[in-house]
Amino acid sequence: MNNHITVMLNDAVEALGVKQGAWYIDGTFGRGGHTRKILEQGGKVIAFDFDQEAIIYGQQTFKSEIIAGDLILVRENFAHLADTIVSLQKNNQVGQINGILFDFGTSTQQLTSQERGFSFEGEGPLDMRMDQRLGVMAKDLLAVIPENQLTELFRVMGGEQEAKRIAKAIKSSKTPIATTKQLADLVSKVKGRQKGKLHPATKVFQALRIAVNTELDNITDMLPQALNVLHYGGKIVTIAFHEGEDKIVKHTFKSWESRNLGKNETKKPEVPSEAEISTNIRARSAKMRVFIKGTHE
Ligand SMILES: C[S@@+](CC[C@H](N)C(=O)[O-])C[C@H]1O[C@@H](n2cnc3c(N)ncnc32)[C@H](O)[C@@H]1O
Repeated sequence: MNNHITVMLNDAVEALGVKQGAWYIDGTFGRGGHTRKILEQGGKVIAFDFDQEAIIYGQQTFKSEIIAGDLILVRENFAHLADTIVSLQKNNQVGQINGILFDFGTSTQQLTSQERGFSFEGEGPLDMRMDQRLGVMAKDLLAVIPENQLTELFRVMGGEQEAKRIAKAIKSSKTPIATTKQLADLVSKVKGRQKGKLHPATKVFQALRIAVNTELDNITDMLPQALNVLHYGGKIVTIAFHEGEDKIVKHTFKSWESRNLGKNETKKPEVPSEAEISTNIRARSAKMRVFIKGTHE
């Protein structure tokens, strides 16, 4: 099933500047929206996703591209990008890397599936692992993290103003919070009825998801590796949905430029058009940045 609408599909792939027969990395395969476009433009793709469901979907949907050798699907955290690429290159399975794309965060499949535990609608286990091999779920974090650190997590990663009261309520709950409904109800009770469109638990769920999947650390670890494996003149294109993600990319690109490693092409991030946002609400917070690796002298 695919109910994911790819964000900034044309802008991001256009920014990569796909050349016939050249290799590109899609660091966040998801449902393969960006990968498909790169393939349609004649590029070849190494696609990463650490979610088993995304990989199975990709193997079924892109069978002929995989058989033709135009797509290599890897179940791996992009924080280990360099090792994977170097070993594929050593085995002559891929050539030089001409561009790398990241569309951070979660897919609609992950967000809306009740069993995966990302959704505050309905009821499911409070899981939130994008990579099912991880040992710690969101419910485990709630159980082990002390109240003050939970407050900090909701405040910093979620921008939640009622962080302290929510953390206190979680820690004083008589029954352990183990389902999405329990957490959504608890947060709604603490915050009361709210005006506006956001569910009261949106920010708490976002903060927990980022922590369970160490999303910001993954980006910090991955960026220097992406620059290393990229061929001179190639581009790194990122789409961020959270201020924390965008900040890491922004500072890294700026620092690379100041070290003459290439050009930061987006001093200000590019954002989706009003038309795109009106048809895909997930696009509303997207920020796209582009860095071009300096040419070898
Ligand atoms: C927003 S979706 C990408 C959607 C995709 N561009 C499309 O058009 O279908 C993000 C995907 O990246 C994966 N992901 C997030 N962080 C990752 C990481 N550190 N390593 C590998 N995959 C990751 C998630 O599992 C999810 O499937």
